[in-house]
Amino acid sequence: MIFYFTGTGNSLYAAKKIGDELGENLIDITAAMKEKSFIYRLSGNEKIGFVFPVYFYGVPSIVADFIAQLKIEQNLEEGIKPYVFGVLTCGGGMGGTPKMLEELLEKQELPLTAAFELKMASNYIMMYQPTGPDLQKKILISTDKKLTDIITAISKNKQDDGSKRKKTFLTRVAYPLYVHGRKTRLFYADKRCNGCKKCEIICPVTVIKMEDNKPVWIKKQCTHCSACINRCPQEAIQYGKKTLKWRRFENPILK
Ligand SMILES: Cc1cc2nc3c(=O)[nH]c(=O)nc-3n(C[C@H](O)[C@H](O)[C@H](O)COP(=O)(O)O)c2cc1C
Ligand code: SF4
Ligand code: SF4
Repeated sequence: MIFYFTGTGNSLYAAKKIGDELGENLIDITAAMKEKSFIYRLSGNEKIGFVFPVYFYGVPSIVADFIAQLKIEQNLEEGIKPYVFGVLTCGGGMGGTPKMLEELLEKQELPLTAAFELKMASNYIMMYQPTGPDLQKKILISTDKKLTDIITAISKNKQDDGSKRKKTFLTRVAYPLYVHGRKTRLFYADKRCNGCKKCEIICPVTVIKMEDNKPVWIKKQCTHCSACINRCPQEAIQYGKKTLKWRRFENPILK
């Protein structure tokens, strides 16, 4: 079983390739959170995977909240542990995300066997302009190559040297900014909004509500996945002024 979270499709792209090759089911963390589905039964020699984007060199808040409530029922013989892997999609690097994932999983008595970094296009439009189409094509070639290696490693039950996992300097400095940041204050819809409701439907943490046919952000913080702003069909959602001029990003798997 592969638990995945995605804002703009990269992690779904990776999860689907891994699931298809290894015959593992995909479970959407957004849907599971909305349905409060936290109990899963592991069958036979099924593996457990977590595929999600790196945020501020750490784990997205929604993924951390999900793992904190997750219960995996297993029928494994005493002493046998399940194979648990993470595939962390990112624009530049994953920093100390594997250590953070390991610590979250430990609390659920799930030992992290291996974590893999997968570089893909950058989507963080609230901070910088997302990767453009030409670079996206180049990145996709290396992403697919790396995915093939990752799938081979998982199929051979490859293990990491867990002692090398560390909360890196980048994670220690950047992640608290995410925890205390991820503000919705600067989001608004401009006059191109036609009231289609897509942003309200896709927000993984349901902080968008339609009022007078326009979206309103009803909580101070969200998980900052960038789905609303990147995937609005009218490019009507902005974050302050700078995004008025910036391109949007959406992995073609979502189109
Ligand atoms: C809030 C936020 C923070 C991000 N932080 C990082 C980061 O620390 N390092 C990095 O390499 N990419 C970072 N990114 C880029 C994403 O991890 C990357 O584009 C990812 O593949 C997006 O996955 P998705 O399409 O499944 O949502 C960040 C993106 C967002 C929205
Ligand atoms: S997705 Fe865009 S066009 Fe549709 S309601 Fe939201 S802001 Fe308006
Ligand atoms: S408000 Fe937008 S950026 Fe925040 S979680 Fe919802 S869809 Fe993602």
